[in-house]
Amino acid sequence: MSETQSPTGPLAALRLEERLRDTRLFFSQALRTFHATGSIVPSSSALAHAMAEHIRHRPDPDEPLRILEAGAGTGAISRGIAAAMRPGDTVDFVEANPEFAAYVEHLLETDPVMSPIADSAEVHACLVDEMGTDRTYDVIVSGLPFANFTADTVRGILDYYFTVLRPGGTLSFYGYLYTKEVKAVIARREDYLRQARTSWVVQDWLDRYGIGSEKVFANIPPAWVHHLRKPEWESSSS
Ligand SMILES: C[S@@+](CC[C@H](N)C(=O)[O-])C[C@H]1O[C@@H](n2cnc3c(N)ncnc32)[C@H](O)[C@@H]1O
Repeated sequence: MSETQSPTGPLAALRLEERLRDTRLFFSQALRTFHATGSIVPSSSALAHAMAEHIRHRPDPDEPLRILEAGAGTGAISRGIAAAMRPGDTVDFVEANPEFAAYVEHLLETDPVMSPIADSAEVHACLVDEMGTDRTYDVIVSGLPFANFTADTVRGILDYYFTVLRPGGTLSFYGYLYTKEVKAVIARREDYLRQARTSWVVQDWLDRYGIGSEKVFANIPPAWVHHLRKPEWESSSS
């Protein structure tokens, strides 16, 4: 086996160094803006793989996909998206934190998984709903920390996703397991109630549009991945 192929060789060391750099940046930003960041470490490759399900398995293998990732962070899930993309697909990476957005731009130039899709990708440093409604998507992958937001904010974001999603398109997002149980023990009452109201909104959307959910234990913390489909007959959200 040559040096570059060895899982313990220089390439593996470089990958480890890159992941440590991602984690350091993520952690330092989480300390500053935990409300928006929602976690202290980036998602795992297992979670990224699960979130890219509808990019790997598409209804028509010959039709290119328009993809939106909301909340790209340090690119953990963006890498899963990039690895699943095919020629002709395009992706908008949207990230509210300008330091993360700049980091994703840098990954598009330097990262071995991200650089092959650089010509098909755009990074937008803004809130996802500031993207407007001119662009529409076949697949939306959302890493936003809904559990930290109010019910009204989450309803607004889900409405936005279903406005820019094409009929028949899919939305995938995740939430952490046991958040409600942990908050019941450690959170202030108002925060617990806020999160309960948020989870009712999420559950309502899952009841209306859910097409499958899976648990991903290989993540810190373990997560639920939910997939939703916008019905073919719906032209905009209700
Ligand atoms: C839980 S982190 C996920 C980061 C990355 N996708 C991952 O899985 O490691 C959530 C990310 O969403 C970003 N974010 C939060 N609210 C946002 C919004 N309304 N629009 C765009 N990005 C947002 C945060 O800055 C943060 O990077």
